Amino acid sequence: MDTKKKINRYTRIYHQLEELLADTNDRDAKLATIAAVLHHKIEYYFWTGFYFLKDGELIVKTYQGPLACQVLEKNKGVCWAGINQGKTIIVPDVHNFQGHIACDSRSRSEIVIPFKDMNGSITGVLDVDSKDLNSFDETDAGCLEKILGLVNV
Ligand code: SME
Repeated sequence: MDTKKKINRYTRIYHQLEELLADTNDRDAKLATIAAVLHHKIEYYFWTGFYFLKDGELIVKTYQGPLACQVLEKNKGVCWAGINQGKTIIVPDVHNFQGHIACDSRSRSEIVIPFKDMNGSITGVLDVDSKDLNSFDETDAGCLEKILGLVNV
């Protein structure tokens, strides 16, 4: 998808989510709504969901897509890299990312965006997988970071 089309798509999704998320203060309902809208509006999203830290482990939360790992091995893979580095990680080809955890062998590229709470501590990540190589770029990163800003975690 070209950059202009991507930005337009994400802008429409942002405004739709802004309206939808105003319905409740419940964090899990907001996250479920974000996962559903993103997953069904962007055709290259193959798996879309959240992992949150709990007792030092990364545990899956609401998601859309095929069955995923419930617990991610500590300090391994893309989600833990997002947690440990505190920044968005874009993986153009998961086979070139050392330690990548393949919950589904069809995933080829991935983006992980960490969530920060109001004190700036990282609490979890949004993780999106695509079946195509090179699906995610700085446009996805910036737009997804803005969307996550709609939720207090
Ligand atoms: N690939 C991720 C694991 C989660 S799944 O993609 C749903 C990782 O390496 O952390």
